[in-house]
Amino acid sequence: MESDIVHLTSDSTSLIVRCAPFAEILYWGQRLNGYSADDVISLGRAVPNGRVDVDAPVNFSADSGRGSFGTPGVEGHRDGLDWSPVFNTIDVIQQGNQLTIVTQDPHAGLQLRSELRLDDSGVLQMRNALTSQKAGKYQVTRLAVTLPLPERADEVMAFHGRWIKEFQPHRTRLEHGGVIQENRRGKTSSEYFPAMMIGHHGFSEQQGEVWGMHLGWSGNHRLRADIKTDGRRLMQAEALYFPGEQMLEQGETLETPWLYASYSASGLNPMSQQFHRFVRDQILRFPAEKPRPVHLNTWEGIYFDHDPDYIMQMATESAALGVERFIIDDGWFRGRADDRAALGDWYLDEKKYPHGLKPVIDHVKNLGMEFGIWVEPEMINLDSDLYRQHPEWLLALPGYQQPSGRHQFVLDLNNPQVFDYLLERMSWLLGEHDVDYVKWDMNREIVQPGHQGRAALTMQTQQFYRLLDVLGERFPQVEFESCASGGGRIDYEVLKRSHRFWASDNNDALERQIIQRGMSYFFPPEVMGSHIGNKLCHATSRQHSIEFRGLTALFGHMGIELDPVKEGEAERAGFARYTRLHQKLRGLLHSGTVYRVDHPDDTILINGVVSQNQDQAVFLVSQLAMPTWSLPGNLRVPGLDTQARYRVSILDAPQLLANGQPGHTMRKQPDWMQQPPELSAEWLEKAGLALPVLDPESALLLHFERV
Ligand code: GLA
Repeated sequence: MESDIVHLTSDSTSLIVRCAPFAEILYWGQRLNGYSADDVISLGRAVPNGRVDVDAPVNFSADSGRGSFGTPGVEGHRDGLDWSPVFNTIDVIQQGNQLTIVTQDPHAGLQLRSELRLDDSGVLQMRNALTSQKAGKYQVTRLAVTLPLPERADEVMAFHGRWIKEFQPHRTRLEHGGVIQENRRGKTSSEYFPAMMIGHHGFSEQQGEVWGMHLGWSGNHRLRADIKTDGRRLMQAEALYFPGEQMLEQGETLETPWLYASYSASGLNPMSQQFHRFVRDQILRFPAEKPRPVHLNTWEGIYFDHDPDYIMQMATESAALGVERFIIDDGWFRGRADDRAALGDWYLDEKKYPHGLKPVIDHVKNLGMEFGIWVEPEMINLDSDLYRQHPEWLLALPGYQQPSGRHQFVLDLNNPQVFDYLLERMSWLLGEHDVDYVKWDMNREIVQPGHQGRAALTMQTQQFYRLLDVLGERFPQVEFESCASGGGRIDYEVLKRSHRFWASDNNDALERQIIQRGMSYFFPPEVMGSHIGNKLCHATSRQHSIEFRGLTALFGHMGIELDPVKEGEAERAGFARYTRLHQKLRGLLHSGTVYRVDHPDDTILINGVVSQNQDQAVFLVSQLAMPTWSLPGNLRVPGLDTQARYRVSILDAPQLLANGQPGHTMRKQPDWMQQPPELSAEWLEKAGLALPVLDPESALLLHFERV
């Protein structure tokens, strides 16, 4: 029936859904301009021999009771009954590009409400809500969102990682048997960022079809790319539940997190650009319209060694470098001499700060900077007054001794007393002090998250959101950063209540190149905390020039993380130079269109940002290791206005090139470098610009300006 078929569109994407008798996605791909609902007759499938005698659809809930034999979207039971639901449509509501389909299984006493929205950006949002409609507890073991994919989606890209090595990409062919990615670390985790990109094999930054998905959830998750022997493929995403964690009484509802999905006909760049636009339009809410301030974070400068006079000296030096926000990291609260004690005791350490925080904050503000502070509210050390008073406040299972992580344990936010205590302490911190920014950390993985004996990780995650939500309402001017050991809690749901991510505790520029590129697939530069670290990197003991560190930190929300008082002239001049350069470019970097450029030599990484009006662009060419070939080839510049001409200039280059020297690996620089030219965008895109030979661990920043 024609009216049962709904077509949602954006500039890039079409989604065609059959709403009845059950809900099924018929098409998700490139925008269709001449489509009519009658066309879907062409998609009626054959029924092959040797299996069930009817067509078995992959509907919204991937019902196994229809004979599709994939992983169902709903799994559960009511004391052993009602375990194989089959959902049929009872209601369809469409409002523009939003579609809600309500389906029901009256025998199992279950209702599934599916919501879809195709945003102008091209990003599809989808979630399911399961309601129990019958007496008796319905125990849900799984509740997923399922999206079918065409047969040509046969290669999966995803990220693995760990502390100080986050967002590492890997790829695998999707041929026989599926790909499952599970995170059980109790937070979004740096192990598996909740995303998969599935495309036609060989898809690259600029070539090939790709369907990307991200589950906006800060707890455990399972993602799946599946293929059956009939050749059909699908992607599925869900929050992962512990046994017994989800029991629905009659009338109660369980919702999946939102799944965010983006289709591109020409590589990963448009997929990312759509995600970025979506984040900018629909998720990010900065308290004020202003440039992202450059940070100085004290952590790798002084660690736990807090002396207010010295910190004020650090602030003075920071302001002289052009820093705009000064952050006191871990170590300011009572008894916090190292990482073994005091988490939970959110009172000022009056031994370290006998006159309170106010003189430091006033000093920072008088220097014209914002003030920020570090907290880790969800955590507790056994060596703390809080634990001595309330050993029962742990998120734990009675009768077991769970291992500590960084000497700490997790507080049970499901206990209202714990929640209220943290709310009161954080409100004291933000209400009694002139704080502009909070670095909210979460430094351990969660083992046996028990509340009154039952598994409670989902509730814990929701209470964490609620705590941030209440604080956000009470202190709307404060910005929050989601840190989690760097990179451990980065997702769209936490971004709804925060403004920045600490991408990694690894400030090594070489490692950061990979980590930041990984993060760029789903997040725009303005939310990615990227700092210039100590010359001798604390995470890797590797050394990099200030140029390479500066240029690598430039393409995010920039900061500096060291002790500026102790640094020499040359380093300080470098910090000031890259701070100024970032301030000059951040309007472009934090609003423009991001490109990652395909290059045949994987020792060379190229990324850039083009302004929305295409008047200007910056591209960074980073040489990560010894070049594979003696000639680095051409940079073919994407994204410019092909009707226009551009002035090409070098904004920053390694010392050697800047002095006009050829260097050890190059006898003569490319001709255009002698006299920066004006070239047509068409030529720049199709023929390109010959690159100079760069030394390993150095980078070149190019600028293109419309003439
Ligand atoms: C975590 C963070 C660091 C720093 C320390 C403080 O490791 O990622 O940036 O804040 O905690 O203890």
